[in-house]
Amino acid sequence: MPRKSTPRAPLHAAEFRRKLLTWFRRQGRDLPWRRTRDPYRVIVSEFMLQQTQVSRVEGYYHRFLERYPSVEALAGAPAEVVRESWEGLGYYRRAANLHRLAQEVMREHGGVIPADPATLLRLPGVGRYTAGAVASFAYERATPAVDTNVGRVLRRAFHPRLARLGAERRLWETAAAIVPTRGKTAWAFNQAIMELGALVCTARVARCGGCPVRGACKTGRRAAMSPMRPESTMSAL
Ligand code: ADE
Repeated sequence: MPRKSTPRAPLHAAEFRRKLLTWFRRQGRDLPWRRTRDPYRVIVSEFMLQQTQVSRVEGYYHRFLERYPSVEALAGAPAEVVRESWEGLGYYRRAANLHRLAQEVMREHGGVIPADPATLLRLPGVGRYTAGAVASFAYERATPAVDTNVGRVLRRAFHPRLARLGAERRLWETAAAIVPTRGKTAWAFNQAIMELGALVCTARVARCGGCPVRGACKTGRRAAMSPMRPESTMSAL
């Protein structure tokens, strides 16, 4: 599909993509929601991961899917029981939204979770990030998905001087410009950039010394030139 009105990819975008994908193939974690393309399973994982760390989500994810193995099963459960199944994960609004989402999918989409980000966006509890993540992770659509971690990686790599306030639009534009056009590769790219944000380019510190994309990243290149701290850049970014 031709790209519509996306800005030109930033300098080093191709190298950034290539290095990131190679690293992810070798170092990416084997997480349960990366083994499936079932849209229901993907959406459950994304709702759980919205406010909760991967390590905590894993156990809950399996238990929840045993109780509610399909969108239909979830839609048919009483709200209080769904809420009990979420016990321990916190932010119970997510459980209520996921339950309403399942009911809406049954009622208005014939039980099929939509693939189009604009349609996903109209479902309860689905914001721009979750819409992109489901389209990419379940349907292998070549679409960007920018959450806090991905936004941080993009900012450090391509826009280190961008003010945080109002940066979101720019970061989404950059994400759209660099996401691979082939859906399968876009799936891996979106998982990979998230993984880099979780394992290497973390909120507290950018571990540039061990970063696979440092040569294609503005912050990483700056760190390599600095005589003071070549290994990591404490995050003012
Ligand atoms: N956070 C949100 N989606 C994720 C995914 N697919 N893998 C790891 N962390 C995530």
